[in-house]
Amino acid sequence: MKTEQGIALVNRDDDGVDRAFREDVLAGLRQRQKAVPARWLYDDAGSQLFEDITELSEYYPTRAETEILQSRGNEFAELIGAGRAVVEFGSGSSVKTPLLLRAIDPAAYVPLDISGDFLRESAAALAEKFPNLAVHPVEADFMREVTLPQEVLGMKKLGFFPGSTIGNMVARTAVDLLRSMRVTLGAENGERPVLLIGMDLIKDRAVLEAAYDDARGVTAEFNLNLARRINRELGGTIPLDALQHRAVWNDAYARVEMHLEATRDFDFSVANENFAMRAGETIHTENSHKFTRRSANTLLLAGGWTPRKRWTDGEGRFSLILAEATEKRDAP
Ligand code: TRP
Repeated sequence: MKTEQGIALVNRDDDGVDRAFREDVLAGLRQRQKAVPARWLYDDAGSQLFEDITELSEYYPTRAETEILQSRGNEFAELIGAGRAVVEFGSGSSVKTPLLLRAIDPAAYVPLDISGDFLRESAAALAEKFPNLAVHPVEADFMREVTLPQEVLGMKKLGFFPGSTIGNMVARTAVDLLRSMRVTLGAENGERPVLLIGMDLIKDRAVLEAAYDDARGVTAEFNLNLARRINRELGGTIPLDALQHRAVWNDAYARVEMHLEATRDFDFSVANENFAMRAGETIHTENSHKFTRRSANTLLLAGGWTPRKRWTDGEGRFSLILAEATEKRDAP
């Protein structure tokens, strides 16, 4: 990270190594099924590669969700209403966010992101597009409860969480996030915030796997970039030519998994600790859970949100769901 504020968020040791990155990688490589938390995929190179992924012909989710946002503006306006504070979990896409803002005419826009640089850049671009909108970026980890800027506290809130990012979490983490979104958006103070959330749908296995393993190899590059980053930042000796990208549908968990698979046996070290991989063994790097109408609803309900309305694109590939904070009441 380049800004003063950004540097403060990263804890580095005397050699300039990001401690959290090192600890996550070492702990992950010691496991029987090797795994590295997906957040480490997104360094500068990874973020750029991810942008490229969203433009691939195989990668349908971005286009499908954008189609819904483009075609349902009137319904959003009617159901959500003008004058809300839109709180976006993540920095916002330059395409999707303006479509929503144009449709519902909010009073304020609050993007939340852990990466200050990216956040301020995209907030500035948006403020330029919407000169009459109050834009209040907040640099924060949205997995935890966030205190919103005082300017928006009196406004009705709409949470916006597109991209099926919720699907990158295992169910337990997704539920934790949905519950902390309730708190961030004021549901615990008796407010009834609403949430507009993108959730990708279960479909033909070949279509799903291709979306995460494109013919041009961009997603493979994105995945391999993690091993490259480990070698560069943690003094790793992983032989990059002995790893290949794999995207596999795991039906039991209803998710596409990304792995880095060893094509032969090799030894390597990271931060002076020794490891080995056998041919066929993998490092698990990302999950992308897919949903049915029912499983999406169940997840939202578990997180304290009542689904109110659901839209899909013309080909039924992707869903956008409007949910309302569930009223607190005693069982049953
Ligand atoms: N949440 C999106 C998805 O799961 C975007 C995404 C996250 C992604 N990590 C990815 C896309 C890795 C491709 C590869 O589809």
